[in-house]
Amino acid sequence: MQSHNDFATMKKLFILITIIIQCAVSNAQKISVFSPAKIWTDNKGLPINAHGGGVLFHEGMYYWYGEHKLEGKSEAQFADGGIHCYASKDLMNWKDKGIVLGVDFKDTTNDLSYGCILERPKVVFNQKNREFVAFFKLYLKGVGYEKSYVGVAVAKHPAGPFRYHHKFLGGGSTKGSGDFSMFKDDDGIVYHLAVRKPDKTFVIGRLDSDYYFPEGDYRAVEGIQVHTEAPAVIKRKGTYHLLGSGSSGWKPNIARYYTTDNILGKWTYHGNPCSGYNTVDSLGIEKTYGGQSSYIIPVQGVVDGYIAMFDRWKPELPITGRYIWLPIDFTEGKMAITWQDTWNMDFFHRKASTKPSFVDQQTPVNAFPLAQQDSIVQSPKSNKWKLVFSDEFNDNAIDTLKWNVENTSRKRTDILLLADEQQVEEKEGNIFIYYRKLMTADTTYLAGRFNSKGKFAPTYGFIETRMHIVKPNGHQMAFWMMPEGNGMKPPQGVDGTANDGCEIDIVEGTKANAYSSGLHWDGYGKPAHKSNGALVKAPGIHDQEYHVYGFEWSPTFLKFYLDGKLVREMTDPKLIPHVAHFIYFSGSCFGENNWLDGDIRKNEFIQKGGIDKSYLDYVRVFESTTGN
Ligand code: GAL
Repeated sequence: MQSHNDFATMKKLFILITIIIQCAVSNAQKISVFSPAKIWTDNKGLPINAHGGGVLFHEGMYYWYGEHKLEGKSEAQFADGGIHCYASKDLMNWKDKGIVLGVDFKDTTNDLSYGCILERPKVVFNQKNREFVAFFKLYLKGVGYEKSYVGVAVAKHPAGPFRYHHKFLGGGSTKGSGDFSMFKDDDGIVYHLAVRKPDKTFVIGRLDSDYYFPEGDYRAVEGIQVHTEAPAVIKRKGTYHLLGSGSSGWKPNIARYYTTDNILGKWTYHGNPCSGYNTVDSLGIEKTYGGQSSYIIPVQGVVDGYIAMFDRWKPELPITGRYIWLPIDFTEGKMAITWQDTWNMDFFHRKASTKPSFVDQQTPVNAFPLAQQDSIVQSPKSNKWKLVFSDEFNDNAIDTLKWNVENTSRKRTDILLLADEQQVEEKEGNIFIYYRKLMTADTTYLAGRFNSKGKFAPTYGFIETRMHIVKPNGHQMAFWMMPEGNGMKPPQGVDGTANDGCEIDIVEGTKANAYSSGLHWDGYGKPAHKSNGALVKAPGIHDQEYHVYGFEWSPTFLKFYLDGKLVREMTDPKLIPHVAHFIYFSGSCFGENNWLDGDIRKNEFIQKGGIDKSYLDYVRVFESTTGN
C-alpha cells in the first residue's frame, strides 16, 4: 500500500514537473521579433548552433542547416561537429532537430573523422530523386585550409538523418574550392558558384541531374572580383542577385553586391548594399555589422520577402557565434539592407497592407462583365454588377493576398507532373503559366497552377477572365472552381446534387479550336461521381491572343460565355451550387490519354526544351446587386 502511495505521489510530482518544464519551454519559445546579433534560442531555450548556414523551405516548413560547433573548442582546436538542423514555420521559433550529419569521433580513416573542417552546409532538394542533398566545404583532417572538397550527403527527409555520400574537388582545380552557393535555377539546374583555390578566382559550374558531381567545366565569372567569398544567390524577376564578402578569414569586411540577367554571363557590381549600424556590437557597414553573409531566404507567400543571413563569427569560442538576419528591401529594384534593432514580417507587409480590398486599383472603374445583351442588361450604367475582386496582373509579382501558387506533384500513367512556384510568373501585364519538361528527368514535366483557396471564394456572381490558352498537344489550360467546403468529399459531399459544391469547369482547353465546360459533383469515386460536360466549339481560339471567358452563377442558373456570347446554360436545380467556391487556374500535361489532343511525350517543342505558356490578362469577379 505504502509503496503504491509513494508511486502515485511521485507520478503526480512528475506530471507537475513536466507541466512546469513545458510551460518554461513554451515561454522560451515565443519569439515575435528578429533581434539581430543577440542570442537566439531554440525551443529548448538553448542558443541556436547552426553557423554558416542556409535555409530550405519544404512542404510548409523551413529547415535551417548550419555548422554545429562543439562546446569548449576554438576554431584552432577544431570545433566542427557536423550539420545541425532546426525546423520552423515562421522563421523565428526554431525546433531543434539535432545533428543530422555528425563528424566521426572513432574512425580516423573516415572523410568526416573529427579534426576535419566541415563548413557552410547548404541543402538542395532534388525533385528527380526526391532526395535532399547537403553540400559543405570539407577540409580533410590534417590538411588545413589549403585544399577543400565539396562534401555531399543525402537524406530522404529534410530533417535527416543525412548519409555521407562522397566528396568532389570543385572549381576545376586540384585544390578544390572554398566558400560557395548552390543555386537552384527555375529549370532545376543547380549551379555551383565558388571561390577557386588557390587563386581565389570566383567561378561557376553546374551539377549533374542527381546534384552529385559537377558536369562540364567551370568558368571564371566575369564581373565578380577575385577574393569574393560567402556568396548568397537569389533570382528575383529574372535577375540574379549575389551578396558576398571580401576575404579576411573570420574577421568581418565590407559586403559586396552584384546582379546579372544571365547567370553564366557578366555580372555588374553595385558596391555595398548595407546601411546602418549594429547597436549591439557597435559595428558599422565597413564591417558588415560584424557579420559575413551565408544565405538569402526567400520568405514564402510574401511578395519581395527576402532575408539576408550573416554570421557573427567568434573563432575563439565559435559555439557562441551569433546570427544577424536582416530584411532585404527591394522597393527600388536593387537590394538594400538596413540594420534593424528588432524587426518582424510587417517589414515586408507595410506596402501591401495599404491595399483596401480585393479590388485591383488598376481595374477600370467602369469595368463590367462581358455578356450578351439578352441575358441580363449589361451596361456600365445598369448597376447590376459590383466589382468585388480583380487582379490585372500588372504588378510583376503575384499577389499572395489573393493567390496561392501550387507546389504539388501528380503521378500520371506514364509521366510525373510537377507544379511549382517557377511555373507561374506575373510580368508584362499578364500572369503566365508555363509548361516544360524537367531537363534532368525524362518522364517529368512541369506546369504551373494557382488558386484562391482560403483567400477568396465567392458564392454566385460573375467570374470572368481574359486569357490565352495553350493549344493542346499533350498539355492544357483550365479555368475552374472548387468548393471551399466538403461538397466534393465523400461521404458528406455525396448527396446526389451539386448544391453542396462541385467542380465547376468553366474552361478545359482539351481540344484544338474547342474546349469543354461543365460540372463534376458527388466526389470523384465510383459509383457516386457524376458529371455533365460539353464541348464548346471555338474556331481560331488559340490563334487570336486573348478571349474573354465568363461564368455567370445565380441561385437559379449557370451560364457560360465566350467573348460575351452565351455558349452553355444549366437550369436544373440539382446542378446549381449554393456554397462558396474558390477560383482555380491550372496547367496540366498528359501522356497517352483519350481526353485531350496530343501526348506530351510526343510534343516536339516541349521535348526540345521549349517552354509553352498560357497567360491571363485579368481576372474579375462581380457580385450581383439584385440577387439574380
Ligand atoms: C571565411 C569563410 C569561412 C571560414 C573562414 C576560415 O572566409 O567564409 O567559412 O572558412 O574563412 O578562416
